Amino acid sequence: MTKLDQIRAAESKLLLQTYERNPILFVRGEGVHLIDEGGAKYLDLLSGIGVNALGYGHPAIERAIVNQSRALIHTSNLFYHEGQAELALRLTERTGMDRVFFSNTGTEAWEGALKLARAHAGLLRSEGKQIGTKFLALEQSFHGRTYGSMSTTHKAKYREPFAPGVPGVEFVKFNDVADLRAKFSSEVCAILVEAIQGEGGIRPLTQEFFAEARKLADSTGALLIADEIQSGMGRTGKWCAYQHYGIKPDVTTLAKPIAGGIPLGAILCTEEAARAIHAGMHGTTFGGGPLACAVAIAVIDAIEKEGLLKNATEVGDYFQAQLRGLAAKHDCIKDVRGKGLMIAAELDSADLAKLTVAEMLKRRILINCTSDTVLRFLPPFILERRHVDEAIKALDQIFVEHAAAVSAANQNAGGNNRG
Ligand SMILES: Cc1ncc(COP(=O)(O)O)c(C=O)c1O
Repeated sequence: MTKLDQIRAAESKLLLQTYERNPILFVRGEGVHLIDEGGAKYLDLLSGIGVNALGYGHPAIERAIVNQSRALIHTSNLFYHEGQAELALRLTERTGMDRVFFSNTGTEAWEGALKLARAHAGLLRSEGKQIGTKFLALEQSFHGRTYGSMSTTHKAKYREPFAPGVPGVEFVKFNDVADLRAKFSSEVCAILVEAIQGEGGIRPLTQEFFAEARKLADSTGALLIADEIQSGMGRTGKWCAYQHYGIKPDVTTLAKPIAGGIPLGAILCTEEAARAIHAGMHGTTFGGGPLACAVAIAVIDAIEKEGLLKNATEVGDYFQAQLRGLAAKHDCIKDVRGKGLMIAAELDSADLAKLTVAEMLKRRILINCTSDTVLRFLPPFILERRHVDEAIKALDQIFVEHAAAVSAANQNAGGNNRG
């Protein structure tokens, strides 16, 4: 029995069976590569689902972990430590927001943002404004697995087993301005968007839809909340994807790559939205601890020092151009889209998408599939063109083999028909 077999057997008995893991045991990583127990090297175009912005074994992260863990790992939010204000300054300067609350995960940040919206509407009501408690979320959205996040996540499979969810959520058709206008009223306390939907298939909001959401929210005092948990912290070539639109939300949420793999999330908001929160209304034991903050500061500084926003833009554009080249050759690629290093290639069948992910894994390249037919690429920000070339070559081979198999099957079917 290999070590992997032993672990699989133990997990199958001991863990809640929530994950369908790939049968690989990774033991370490270097740059954009992961290395398994047998020493095989995998090109990682997924970065732990959009987390490992600086790849693996980055010296800045290692240094921050070693130094901070020697000094102080946890104090709780009952006391001050050096990291929160320093990190909050970096985040607010780069996002245009005023204030920050630190959580541990993405879903927790999103929960807090929803609570902030309800509290803000309550404050406005106490000041004589007419505003309700309803959330408008978008079709195909994904905001996480806790109750509020799950209730504002569109896909029924994530919500239905746990019904009833949080009341007062209505879904708007994605990028449908007329539907947004029809569903918006003074009952709404917040419009919830991802500037570029992640799990929903790397789908960017249109300028028109985003601008209309901003305008409608402004007309009543409702908050516009942008979930940047997947798209934020530089993945798209800007600190937040909303900056590509020149539209500022009232609240945004960050997590995934913020501390390079150490759990950390953040709610960022304007001074106006922050008026709604007073001492004791919201909190966390672990969120914004000294270790996570020290690492996040190191991650931001490394992104800037190494020019990784520019790299995300340049290598991302190159990646999309190469994928478009493949699309011209292979009809099975229906669309290529994304921004920076948040990229999708949409295929014409769910079976082919599944097969492609499995075939890429056989070639030791990690990608995943979302929304059934969408190949998703969320590589580390340190990705280089030669890594893109490697992935494109593998995809080309897979699609050539697939086209040959489809053509052989068609010929057989034709032969059978004739017989
Ligand atoms: C846009 C978005 N929001 C929220 C979440 C939830 O984050 P977490 O898994 O850290 O709770 C995710 C995770 O995939 C996400 O992509």
